[in-house]
Amino acid sequence: MSHKLHLAVILAALAAACLNPALAIAAEHRNQSVNVIPLPVSVELSDGVFIITPSTRVIAKADTQAEAAKLIDALAGPMGFSLQCSANPQGREKTIELALDRRPSALADEGYTLEVTEQRILIRARRPAGLFYGIQTLLQLLPPSIFSKTKVDNSSWQVPCIKITDYPRFKWRGLLVDPARHFIPMPDLLCFIDNMALHKLNRLQVHFTDNEGWRIEINEYPKLTQIGSKMDRSRRKTKDGRYVGGFYTQDDIRRIVRYAADRHITIVPEIEMPFHTGAAIVAYPELGINTGHLAELPPEQRWGRTKGLIAPRPETVAFLQNVLSEVIELFPGRQIHIGGDEADTGHWARDGEMQAQMKRLKLKDAHELHSWFIRQMDTFLTNKGRRLVGWDEILQGGLAPGATVMSWRGEQGGITAANAGHDVVMAPTSHTYFDYYQGPKESEPRAIGGFIPLSRVYEYDPLPKQIQPQNVKHVLGIQAQLWGEYISTAAHRDYMAYPRALALAEIAWSQKEAKNYERFIAALSHHLKRLDAKGINYRKTKSP
Ligand code: ACM
Repeated sequence: MSHKLHLAVILAALAAACLNPALAIAAEHRNQSVNVIPLPVSVELSDGVFIITPSTRVIAKADTQAEAAKLIDALAGPMGFSLQCSANPQGREKTIELALDRRPSALADEGYTLEVTEQRILIRARRPAGLFYGIQTLLQLLPPSIFSKTKVDNSSWQVPCIKITDYPRFKWRGLLVDPARHFIPMPDLLCFIDNMALHKLNRLQVHFTDNEGWRIEINEYPKLTQIGSKMDRSRRKTKDGRYVGGFYTQDDIRRIVRYAADRHITIVPEIEMPFHTGAAIVAYPELGINTGHLAELPPEQRWGRTKGLIAPRPETVAFLQNVLSEVIELFPGRQIHIGGDEADTGHWARDGEMQAQMKRLKLKDAHELHSWFIRQMDTFLTNKGRRLVGWDEILQGGLAPGATVMSWRGEQGGITAANAGHDVVMAPTSHTYFDYYQGPKESEPRAIGGFIPLSRVYEYDPLPKQIQPQNVKHVLGIQAQLWGEYISTAAHRDYMAYPRALALAEIAWSQKEAKNYERFIAALSHHLKRLDAKGINYRKTKSP
C-alpha cells in the first residue's frame, strides 16, 4: 500500500470511529491496552467490557484475601463503594476473582495472568506478589480517575475484555532516595513507596547515613541520632537558631518496612562506610582518623572537620558491626548495602596508626586495607544469613566473596563482577542518576550536573553484551538514584523521578524485544493523566 493510501485508510477509520460511538469505544479500549506502563509481556484485546458496579463481588480464598483487600481498598475511594468479598460466588453477580496456583510456571514469583470477560475478571499468579501486579495492571485498565484520592462522580468503571500474561525481565527494579542529605518526613517517604508500587518497582534503597546526617535510630549508640541527625545539607536553622535535621525511630523503620512489604517492595538499607561517615564521626569522634579531639568541641562545631572517613581499627569495625546487628533486626530483606564508595584511602596511607595496622595485617597498601575492611563486613553479614551490597569501588583490592556489586561509575564494575560470578545491580551515572538534569539547565531547578533526559533512560539496556551467557543470571536488575543534595521537598523529588522512573520501570520489567520509544511516549501521554489523578508531580515536557 502506498503511503498516501495508507493515510487515507487511517483517516477513514478515524472518521468512522468519531461518528460511530461503538467503534470509538473499541478504539479507546485498544488504546488503553497498550497504555499500561510498564508494558506487559502479552496483551490480547477483544470486544466488550466488564463494568464494575456496587454489586460486583470479589472472590478470594484465605490465601488471596490480603491482596483482595488491597484491591477493594484501591477501588473504594474513587468509586465511593466497597466491594463485598467472599470465598465463593454467592449468586449470579459478576466477579473479580483472585487465585493462586503455586505450580511452577513461566510466571515465576512475580508474574500473573489477567483475563477480563464481560462476566468475570480473573487474576492468577503463583505468589501474592503476582496478584498484586495483576491488580496494578487492572487499575491502569480502568479510567485514569481510578487514581483519584477522592470520590469521582460520573465515571463508568469499565475494563476492556482482555487477556494479559505478564512477568518481569529483572527481579531488582529499584530506586534510591537520600534522607541523609535532606531528611524525608515519614508521610513523604510512604507516599513515594506507594507511587513506586503502581509501576511494579520493587526495591527502595534508603541512603540513611552520610556526612550530612545520620537518620536511623540505633539503640546501642544513641548519639548517632541525638547528635548526628541534627544537621542537613542545607544547614537550615529553626527560628530559635537550632539546626534542623531529622531521623527515623526504630518504630518508624518498622512501619516503613511493613508499608513497603504490603506493596511487595523491599527496603534496602544503606549504612555508608568507610567514607560518607561524617555524621557518625561527629557523634562519636573516636571513629575517625585523628578526630578524637573533636569530642572537646560542642557538637555543632564538629561538622565539616571529619574527612568523612572512619579509621578501620578493630574498635571501629566492632562499632559498625553492632550497628549492622540492629539494622539486620529491622530489615528482613536479604541485602544490606554498606556503601563503600569514594573513600580517599590516601588518608589511611599517610596515617601512622593505619600504617601499623596494614603491617600487622600483612596488607601491601591502603586499597587492600579498604578491601580488608569490606571483607570484615561481608563475613559478618554472611554469617548472619545476609548479603553485602556495595558500590563498585568494593572491587578495588579484591572483592569480598559474598558481595553484590552496584555498578555506578559506568558498567565495567558490573561486567567484571558478574563475569567473576557475583551478583550485580546496574546503576550507571550515564543513564540512572535521576539527580542529573532532565532538560535544559536554564529552565530546570538546580541539579547536581549531568544530563539524563527521558529518552536516555529508556535507551539503556541493563544487560551489557560483555557479560558471558552463563553469568547473565547474576545481573539482578537496575536501579536509579535520587541523591538528595538538591532535593529537599517531596514535590521536587517526584519531579526528578517522573517521568524518568516510568522509563526505568519499563526497561526493568518489560521484554527487551518489545522496546519502542514512540509507543512508550504514546502510552506516557495517557499515563500522565493517572499521575495527575494520583497527585504525583512530574516534569511536563513537550519533546520528551
Ligand atoms: C555514588 O554516587 N557515590 C555511589
